[in-house]
Amino acid sequence: MRIGLLTGGGDCPGLNAAIRAVARRAEVGGHETVGLRNGWAGLATPGRPDAVELGHLDVSGILGEGGTVLGTSRTNPQDREGGMDAVRDNLRRLRLDALVAIGGDDTLSVAAALAERGEPVVGVPKTMDNDVAETDRCIGFDSAATTVMEAIDRLQSTAASHHRVMVVEVMGRDAGWIATYGGLAGGADAILVPERPIDLAATCHHLSRRATIGTGSSIVVVAEGVVLPEDLGDGTGDGATETLDAFGHPRLDRRGVGERLGREIETRTGIETRVTVLGHIQRGGSPSLFDRVLASRYGVAAVAAIEAGRYGVMVALRGDEIIEVPLSLVRGRNRQVDPSMLDLAALFG
Ligand code: F6P
Repeated sequence: MRIGLLTGGGDCPGLNAAIRAVARRAEVGGHETVGLRNGWAGLATPGRPDAVELGHLDVSGILGEGGTVLGTSRTNPQDREGGMDAVRDNLRRLRLDALVAIGGDDTLSVAAALAERGEPVVGVPKTMDNDVAETDRCIGFDSAATTVMEAIDRLQSTAASHHRVMVVEVMGRDAGWIATYGGLAGGADAILVPERPIDLAATCHHLSRRATIGTGSSIVVVAEGVVLPEDLGDGTGDGATETLDAFGHPRLDRRGVGERLGREIETRTGIETRVTVLGHIQRGGSPSLFDRVLASRYGVAAVAAIEAGRYGVMVALRGDEIIEVPLSLVRGRNRQVDPSMLDLAALFG
């Protein structure tokens, strides 16, 4: 068989490990692997697929590298006139028998639409946001949460030295996985996530109390996707950006949630406050052990599904088992952090 492979959406550590796993498992099965460049963009231009053969040596030495050797983009072929037809025609032009799409909910929603049209597609969940439905873990989450933990470790000592509040803004559009796990592991004193309404009065009271009992410093982790109360008084409103990506998502970095929160905390508590926006540092660097192993398992399972003729599925982690779930169940849904985990993280504040 000739198996196509693409990585779409935001990059994250572990993508190259998955690419390597698909190519190596395909080779063992006697198949060829063809990489599509820059996500769905590699298939979306009529008559001009952007592809590269992925042989044994092409995936050598990439296991521990961050990013994706195939490149990525947020191209949405469903958004373009004839975009999905171009994808289908390019699959034929490249003589691909199946396609592995590695991505988050946006990339996988295109995979689900293709599967609905009868195309032989298998999905692999990746996003440091960890919010793809029907899987316990996405490639990239463990590495990114570890980066947040390490950043908080560093911020702890400078916060303590200056007796300050440190606000740490982390990624997380619809769910607070990175904030919750990174914050819990780093010993954050308050964690603000999209799953729960923000009670600024309670948070500031908590921070003031910590200052008076001699703790002296506090770390507040905030997910960039939280909705701040409208009465912040800084006149910026909460939308703050009209720039949308191809899937209709606003640029959350432009909202400046951490900066606005930090200013408000300083005003309300009188405690000197500093803000760190971790941004794309969370998406860079080498994948963790967990992500390397997970990506390797997912890549191998995706090719196994193709060999067995099981299409329209996403490989997923349930407990410690790799399973397959219908792509139709993944599309348009979002997995938020379990309330018990949020309660656990709050316990340490
Ligand atoms: O991959 C998802 C994500 O990490 C979001 O949490 C974040 O808002 C977004 O990517 C930003 O990505 P970019 O700036 O690359 O578009």
